[in-house]
Amino acid sequence: MSDRLIMKLRVVGARLTTPDVLMLDLQHPKRPALPAWTAGAHVDVMVAGGVRQYSLWGDPEDRGRYRIAVKREAGGRGGSKWIHDHAREGSELHVSAPRNHFGLDGKGGRYVLVAGGIGVTPILAMARVLAAGEADFTVHYCARNAAQAPLLDELRAVCGDRLTTWFSQEGRRLDVHTLLARAAGAELYACGPNSLTAALETAIAAQGFPADLYHREHFAALSDADFVPDSFEVVITSSGRKLHVPADRSLLEVLRDNHFVRGSSCEIGVCGSCECGYVSGDVIHRDAVLGVKARASRLMPCVSRARGSLTLDL
Ligand code: FES
Repeated sequence: MSDRLIMKLRVVGARLTTPDVLMLDLQHPKRPALPAWTAGAHVDVMVAGGVRQYSLWGDPEDRGRYRIAVKREAGGRGGSKWIHDHAREGSELHVSAPRNHFGLDGKGGRYVLVAGGIGVTPILAMARVLAAGEADFTVHYCARNAAQAPLLDELRAVCGDRLTTWFSQEGRRLDVHTLLARAAGAELYACGPNSLTAALETAIAAQGFPADLYHREHFAALSDADFVPDSFEVVITSSGRKLHVPADRSLLEVLRDNHFVRGSSCEIGVCGSCECGYVSGDVIHRDAVLGVKARASRLMPCVSRARGSLTLDL
């Protein structure tokens, strides 16, 4: 479970933005100001049998409410269905304080934002902040069609002519190679289905787009069905203690068994709750959170593993 503050928030607005995406506005029943957040942040929402992560898409300046959008995932684990079936105006949800692994780089310059489907949520919050700061930015939004593009009206209102939509049913598909060529020198932010980010990452590698200018957030676990886990050894820096991680257990489980307390939430590598530092080792990163730079010294023990021996900064 997350080690963050958990609040009981009231649903003060609930409406569909597309046939399968429910927008929820959440307020604290007593406190006028919720914990602050920055564009790109997400919250954990407790659902029957688990926890799900949802990005905040509202205005970070609006401390009075959190705004999330929940897509009903037919083939999902049931969390989004539970929210669609249970969240009504007046109902209450347990929600964590926000966490941000996808924050805007404050260096300024030019920004290119790419959203696919429900991945629009953090991108909308970013666009709002960039527009307010009169930054140089463009947004590319990919969806099947306008009717199935969540928060399209809100994004249009924020971006104006800085928004380009790519609706596949209209025969308009984002060409990632052209996008990258035009994004030279810009900070590139992407959130969407794995197919979108994978296409971008293949093109980034092929075109030599600088990896440190690329920032992405996935909202589903990375799929690596062919991955075969192997056992590995862990050394704890502070004590020199050695632990064995068998092939059928996660590093997070082994740390917990040995009383190294780590927060956790999703346990599928998408929320960032269990993040941990390491000093040395050949890490097999399998999370969808950490960027290239962070992976040099950080890992997510719920999913990531190592070859041989790993020295943890604990
Ligand atoms: S618990 Fe969510 S990334 Fe590890």
